[in-house]
Amino acid sequence: MKELMQKLREASIRAILESENVETLEALRVKYLGKKGELTGILRQMGKLSAEERPAMGQLANQLRQDIESAIEARRNELQSAMMEKKLEQESIDVTLPAEDLRIGHKHPMYSVLDQIKDIFIGMGFEIVDGPEVELADYNFTKLNIEDSHPSREWTDTFYFKDDSSILLRTQTSPMQVHAMETKPLPIRMIAPGRVYRKDEVDATHSPMFHQIEGMVIDKGVTMADLKATLNLVVEKIYGEGTVTRFRPHHFPFTEPSCEMDIQCHKCGGKGCPTCKGQGWIEVLGAGMVHPKVLAGCGIDPEVYSGWAFGMGLERLAMGEYKITDLRLIFENDVRFLEQF
Ligand code: DAH
Repeated sequence: MKELMQKLREASIRAILESENVETLEALRVKYLGKKGELTGILRQMGKLSAEERPAMGQLANQLRQDIESAIEARRNELQSAMMEKKLEQESIDVTLPAEDLRIGHKHPMYSVLDQIKDIFIGMGFEIVDGPEVELADYNFTKLNIEDSHPSREWTDTFYFKDDSSILLRTQTSPMQVHAMETKPLPIRMIAPGRVYRKDEVDATHSPMFHQIEGMVIDKGVTMADLKATLNLVVEKIYGEGTVTRFRPHHFPFTEPSCEMDIQCHKCGGKGCPTCKGQGWIEVLGAGMVHPKVLAGCGIDPEVYSGWAFGMGLERLAMGEYKITDLRLIFENDVRFLEQF
């Protein structure tokens, strides 16, 4: 038995030292020390020994098991560090190689147009204000003199948060008129750009989220002439000097009188072309004199103060300026599109 163990010792230690990877090593462990392994096989014969011989043999067997185990452990460590070294060698980095170019983006075309407009208004003494996109129906509609039965209040048109229709995603930036009048000292000159939401299906000219710019002036003695002069100036700065505008009568509940402003098509000079859809004119914004009811509702005496306001779509403006034919391109952020500006 002693001899058997000696043989096993020699054979196993040699095999362990020669093993090339951790998988073979594991197979050797099973082969020698496993339940059906060679050492177990030898131990099974212990029964044949006399009671005096047994303890010494048992001790030898235990020693052998320990030795095989530590040989395996030592070899495993060797193999693992060799593997690690090889890996490190393969993955080494040449720090002297030139770095990859960092791709730096640029402003989105729509925000370039917005910045241009902000600059124009800042130059005229307006302040830029920001307000909530989640809005009370009170501010989005009621305080703007939009009655309960108005179609824009329908559930099919507006994103409401509550069954009682009291909280919504603002459908226009006009509630910013109310916020400004309620909180700012008079006179007020402000523009309020921002996102607005309507239940529209996405297509080339519609999106459930888009941007508007609201503008408002409240002061003593403000008239429609101020509105026209200011907007004409803005249009000339955006579309070039001499751009012709026209103001068509329109209806908005929160302005009286109300109008829409068109610009004569800068492409065809009014003759009619694809840009203006053959009309010669392009609708740019809605505007008007702030309704006395709205002023009074915000605590401003309409006998003393008057004001004008306008609201325009930012995407439409950017699309006109950059000849973008599909609204979806503005939001998809495909770099092949954005790189062109
Ligand atoms: N809020 C209107 C809309 O979304 C646009 C508008 C019209 C704004 C007239 C105004 C205004 O400030 O005076 O259609």
